[in-house]
Amino acid sequence: MLKPSRIEHVRGVEETAAHLAKKYGADEETCRVAAMLHDCTKRLSLSEQLEICRKYGVETDEMERESPELLHSKSGAAVAKYEFGASDEVIEAIKWHTTGKANMSLTEKIVCLADFIEPSRHFEGLEAVRREAERDLDGALILAFSRTLKHLEEKGVAPHRNTRQALEFLLARR
Ligand SMILES: [Fe+2]
Ligand SMILES: [Fe+2]
Repeated sequence: MLKPSRIEHVRGVEETAAHLAKKYGADEETCRVAAMLHDCTKRLSLSEQLEICRKYGVETDEMERESPELLHSKSGAAVAKYEFGASDEVIEAIKWHTTGKANMSLTEKIVCLADFIEPSRHFEGLEAVRREAERDLDGALILAFSRTLKHLEEKGVAPHRNTRQALEFLLARR
């Protein structure tokens, strides 16, 4: 289901998620399965993803319906549920891995952060997030969501409200 070039990324997310699971006391197997499946619809076009969402009755918002980048979290969660029989915890982690959201579970946080920091990723500021991930999971997510919002702002792209809410939720608890 993956382009060859995405396999390295997915393996990197899996190993990073397993490492974070051990570090922060989450279930390693659940985190590994969620990581393996998290981008399972990433190679599909927007219309193919919309078809999956229609087929499985997945609710989507206006932004998601226009962006394959956002929609692959929802379509991927549906495929994980209906085609792979994944657990609710895995399904939710896939659903929120791109935007994050307020009040994330430990597994959701781990998969979201692992997707951001896995070893094949390279961009400015990433090393600081990786270092923070070794000492404070929420602190690392704050850096990651802040970086995403800044990056989107620089590109002139409106962020999904869930990302803003994810950051605000974590900041309010510091
Ligand atoms: Fe993704
Ligand atoms: Fe990914």
